[in-house]
Amino acid sequence: MNTPHTVTVEPAIAVAGRVVLPGDKSIAHRAALLAALAEGETEITGFPDAADPQSTLACLRALGVGVEHRDESLFVQGRGPDGLRQPDGPLDCGNSGTTMRLLAGVLAGRPFPATLTGDASLSSRPMARVAEPLGLMGATVGLTDGHAPLTITGGRLRGIEYRLPVASAQVKSAVLLAGLQAEGTTTIIETAPSRDHTERMLGLSVLELGTERYVTVEGGRRVPAGLWVVPRDFSAAAFFLVAGSIVENATLELTGVGLNPSRSALLDVLTAMGARIEVLNERERGREPLADLRIYTPKNGLTGVEVGGALIPNLLDEIPLLAVAAACAQGRTVIRDAAELRVKETDRLAATAAFLTAMGAKVTEIIDGLVIEGGHPLHGAAVESHGDHRIAMAAGVAALAASSPTTIHGADAAAISFPGFWTELDGLTGGGTVTVVD
Ligand code: S3P
Repeated sequence: MNTPHTVTVEPAIAVAGRVVLPGDKSIAHRAALLAALAEGETEITGFPDAADPQSTLACLRALGVGVEHRDESLFVQGRGPDGLRQPDGPLDCGNSGTTMRLLAGVLAGRPFPATLTGDASLSSRPMARVAEPLGLMGATVGLTDGHAPLTITGGRLRGIEYRLPVASAQVKSAVLLAGLQAEGTTTIIETAPSRDHTERMLGLSVLELGTERYVTVEGGRRVPAGLWVVPRDFSAAAFFLVAGSIVENATLELTGVGLNPSRSALLDVLTAMGARIEVLNERERGREPLADLRIYTPKNGLTGVEVGGALIPNLLDEIPLLAVAAACAQGRTVIRDAAELRVKETDRLAATAAFLTAMGAKVTEIIDGLVIEGGHPLHGAAVESHGDHRIAMAAGVAALAASSPTTIHGADAAAISFPGFWTELDGLTGGGTVTVVD
């Protein structure tokens, strides 16, 4: 049941068992790109078969990089930045913003023209945010009305100091990847810390001054070939953190989950709401912290919470799910400072408000967030993913706690980050909960 277009999800009376999660999408993109920039062979373990990271691999192959699967691992033959060759046609980034923005950073330093394209969703997302700093560094970047197709002709770049106008790990990473190939040093200044995988993986120096973070990369820095271990994706784990917190009789186990503190705020927010989540066997692999998680039904249910400010980038992809938890909590939840959600794969504030409202929740959309009055029981409804993987899966989790079946259109979008999602969801309810409609 990997890519059903429409599914029906029945209410669940219990969820139990161990969930198999995909590898971390953010880290996988970076591991593949860094491996391509390194000299020599890099092995990547845990690389997910999700569509987004596969888009990055397809683009790298089109740039002449050798990529092959062997013995459960991915092997990338890096020949340094100079080993990349001009592609024969446009590079298709599919639905993946990370592919388009990070690859633009890589190509900014290459002396040939390339065009990056994407699907309808990606072609409607803002790209000026990446074109601007890469232009300041010396690349020529063309857009149509600020959107893809993104044409880029790179070449000699100079290092810049750049204050991020939006908290975006994708823009930060694009500039750092270009900075690797620039003359002199490049420094990114961020005021609301976004996920820090790129700086960790490159071992960059980070200076924290008050609320500002300065991340610096030296031009010409060599990227080491070797081994990357991709942990299980916290953003995929998040669906089960919420499922186990809103369904009665939950005992769930997730192993090897990435717990990078710039990504894992949902864990703390759910705990503050009353969730029972145990963090076990904390360890470090490939410069990233990970742990095993156990989730149990909270003894006294969840209560509402207020989130906003610098916490938001740390919680960004999990906000639709936080809204699901909030709808099942007692009291009011207020989510602010999250306007970035309007320019994700779809307008996630509008899409979340729409599916939760259809299911009986009391949700008000505000300009940069959501206000949810908890305690209104959810019922089944027909809802739409709008082609957005996280909306499809968040609706699937909400459906477990509804009083009647929910039909989710566009359920196939889950394959963007989590191809096995519907099978896993069905398995942990004992089977028969998720039915494929078409
Ligand atoms: C990502 C960064 C975030 C996040 C996306 C993955 C990354 O986007 O929403 O799912 O891997 O760098 P922005 O940095 O554009 O906010």
